[in-house]
Amino acid sequence: MRSTALVTGASSGLGAEFAVRLAARGHDLVLVARSEDRLTALAERLAAKYGARAHVLPQDLAEPDAARRVADRLAARGLSVDLLVNNAGFGTCGRFEEIDADRDHDQLMVNVVALVGLTHALLPGMLERGTGAVVNVASTAAFQPAPYFAVYGAAKAFVLDFGLALRQEYRRRGIRVLTLCPGPVDTPFFDVIGTRDAAVNGSMTTPEPVVRAALRALDRDRGYVAPGLGNALSAHLLPRRPRTLVAALAERVTRKVLSPSATAARPKEYAA
Ligand SMILES: NC(=O)c1ccc[n+]([C@@H]2O[C@H](COP(=O)([O-])OP(=O)(O)OC[C@H]3O[C@@H](n4cnc5c(N)ncnc54)[C@H](OP(=O)(O)O)[C@@H]3O)[C@@H](O)[C@H]2O)c1
Repeated sequence: MRSTALVTGASSGLGAEFAVRLAARGHDLVLVARSEDRLTALAERLAAKYGARAHVLPQDLAEPDAARRVADRLAARGLSVDLLVNNAGFGTCGRFEEIDADRDHDQLMVNVVALVGLTHALLPGMLERGTGAVVNVASTAAFQPAPYFAVYGAAKAFVLDFGLALRQEYRRRGIRVLTLCPGPVDTPFFDVIGTRDAAVNGSMTTPEPVVRAALRALDRDRGYVAPGLGNALSAHLLPRRPRTLVAALAERVTRKVLSPSATAARPKEYAA
């Protein structure tokens, strides 16, 4: 029987790449995001190219009961999920007092609350079947405080610690849990956050090598992976330094997001 992978944020960027790579590996897919048209186009492509059954589940993950709604629709279709990829997410940047509070609230709902909720909803089924896996997408922002990305960085630190903790809880019970911590990847993420100056650390890569590295790490049951040598080095070294020093050093790098050109490039609704 083909196993089923559910990918959130499958309508673009890393999520779409996860869906393609997983279909190529023989998984059926459940595709979750708000953009139903893009999910449907992807589902048709996965069916035509890989013979994958791809179910489209449009859902705004910022809604308070988003995880339950997804779980209810999975149950109604008789679908069980063997691999959960909690990838959906977006960021905000700039001086904290200038960032729209509702936007930060939605960010936490999508990047944290929905991720935990979907894990709660789907992990018990994996335990019952004695096998399964969860991939949570964090960021290199998870490894240090991120001034001017304070909420985004803290949310991603949550995702990393949550994933590492679950991995220890479930590693002897047949469930693998991987946390993916990418550096800058060329996706619409930067259109949504409003500036390419948000790519503060490391050089930009494409989704393909990042997702390949994630699936390789999942196969090897690694706890986390930060693809790219520079990202891997900083992931290894930064948590070992005094935290206030790391925050001060990080601020020297992230302050570039405050440049006038970055502010001008920000979409109106997110601009200060
Ligand atoms: N790109 C980078 O440099 C980078 C680096 C490190 C980590 N990451 C992380 O990688 C993940 C994927 O980002 P990406 O780079 O692939 O960006 P992206 O192309 O903008 O994709 C974000 C995905 O999340 C979905 N999403 C956003 N808000 C949503 C909501 N309210 N409800 C449901 N789905 C929602 C979007 O779908 P809809 O708009 O259709 O809803 C989209 O499919 C994110 O968690 C991001 O934080 C990205």
